[in-house]
Amino acid sequence: MIKFGDKSRWGRIAVLLAAGALAASATYANESGEADFWWSPGSGETFPAQLDYPNDLGTLRLVLDGGPMETAGHPFFEPLGPNGRACITCHQPRDGMSLTPATARAQWDATGGQDPLFAAYDGSNCPTMPQGERDSHSLLLDYGLFRIQRAWPPVDLHTGEQVEPDFEIEVVRDPWGCNTGEHYGLDAENPSISVYRRPRPVANLRYVMTSTFNMDPKTGMPYLNDPETGEPIPGNLMADARTGTLRWQMRDAARSHLEMLDELTEDQLQRIEEFERRIYVSQQTMHTGGNLAAAGAQGGPEPMVHFEAGLLGTLGKPLWSEFDAWREPDPNATPEELEFRASVVRGVDLFLHDTFLLTDTAGINHRLGFGSPYRVACVTCHNMEHMGLDAGAGQIAIGTNNSPFANQNPHLPLFRIRCTGRPHIDLGREFLTTDPGYALTTGRCQDVGKITAQTMRGMASRAPFFANGSAEDIGAVVDFYDRRYDIGYTEQERQDMINLLSAL
Ligand code: HEC
Ligand code: HEC
Repeated sequence: MIKFGDKSRWGRIAVLLAAGALAASATYANESGEADFWWSPGSGETFPAQLDYPNDLGTLRLVLDGGPMETAGHPFFEPLGPNGRACITCHQPRDGMSLTPATARAQWDATGGQDPLFAAYDGSNCPTMPQGERDSHSLLLDYGLFRIQRAWPPVDLHTGEQVEPDFEIEVVRDPWGCNTGEHYGLDAENPSISVYRRPRPVANLRYVMTSTFNMDPKTGMPYLNDPETGEPIPGNLMADARTGTLRWQMRDAARSHLEMLDELTEDQLQRIEEFERRIYVSQQTMHTGGNLAAAGAQGGPEPMVHFEAGLLGTLGKPLWSEFDAWREPDPNATPEELEFRASVVRGVDLFLHDTFLLTDTAGINHRLGFGSPYRVACVTCHNMEHMGLDAGAGQIAIGTNNSPFANQNPHLPLFRIRCTGRPHIDLGREFLTTDPGYALTTGRCQDVGKITAQTMRGMASRAPFFANGSAEDIGAVVDFYDRRYDIGYTEQERQDMINLLSAL
């Protein structure tokens, strides 16, 4: 057993457990053998080629394609700005490169609320609230949400000019004071809208950044081109698609989350992007089902590393064919494993083939119900191989933010939106929403509540779900769809779907 020097701020010791394979494979634990959950910015540890963390259902695995990496001096891991945060602060390996409220609470307890994670700017419900008090950070501690401040009106991504929105927005509920008052909100000197969102995993990004089409199949509009490379920008990055490329996203993150006044250097941009394109995450083992790569199955992150651009989505391997080998019974498996595997395979069949009627889902069918109601399966929107992203990238409003579901989240601000402007199909329509989503980027009423789907891998380590954190666990995601689209799952089907999603 080899011990790293104790570089973490609160005296936890990372222990490398893997015998023989030294920095190639590791599980992090403290001296008493409990998992050490927190990766401190600037800790200088080596990021191993393979890193496992226990979670409630089994183990999560991270794979760093190309082998171990020194994090000392690396811009993703070092605090670059004045608030002491690094990218790793909110994109923690043990949480599937996102950040869970459980981890935030543990950090709160370990540091008496002093960790840079809780920086007033976006780690509190509003910077105007008294800092250092738990109540001022309740959205992060209870739901894993960070404040996202968007300038209002938005700036057009194509032209860089201010957009004239085709809707009016009014603040109906403002529990934390960040959408009203003189400092923040619509009446402030620099008007803005604050919404609250979960960190999206920084992993599997080669898939996120792949474009299968050269136009948005949902709107028929050409994708934007990356100003640096001239390549079309795939539309799967960020909940509201406000940044189209990894570099663009980094600059946005540095200015906001890290509160940096200087721009990231070319070297920093390059090194962060290189790391982002090497890191993969997925569940690897289940307590009840054993190894997800057993008996010929292709679970775990390793198969994702063999990335074949251009062979994605419906054109590539069928979604969740990872588990096809489990359709044949395995004579060496335990009864428990066999039962779990059969359940996952039934979950795959539900995901691919069990259809339901899509109603009022902007981005796929129009919310007014013009055009025929549309029969879909989960795979209609979640189709990119290994990922469950939409290969025909684009933003969709499944209703996670808009009423009636908006009313179930009284801890979030509520906005009333009325469609105005030149005559169009939504003219005069009103929405209540906790997060206008893509409409904060485009200023268009038809985009209210649209959100970009994200990687479906590693979910067992990063509850709660949906951009607004409104689904407290995987079961709540399945129940959301069951209610929203009146699917009518049986108890067994619900469990099969949960088992599939937990094994990704
Ligand atoms: C204070 C917490 C915090 C810090 C620090 C932070 N992020 Fe994030 N990150 C988030 C949140 C929240 C989102 C989701 C924002 C949204 O969807 O509007 C996100 C989203 C992302 C995404 C989008 C992934 C996807 O699939 O769409 C990438 C990439 C990312 N962050 C990279 C970085 C990098 C690089 C840094 C350091 C320069 C960084 N983050 C620092 C909270 C943070
Ligand atoms: C009409 C398109 C569409 C269909 C059909 C659809 N989804 Fe989604 N899904 C989305 C969008 C958009 C999001 C992002 C919503 C958000 O974050 O608010 C999402 C998010 C999710 C997430 C959350 C992932 C996370 O990390 O937060 C899961 C899990 C999921 N969907 C599973 C399913 C399942 C299971 C089905 C079938 C019952 C399904 N989806 C059907 C569009 C769709």
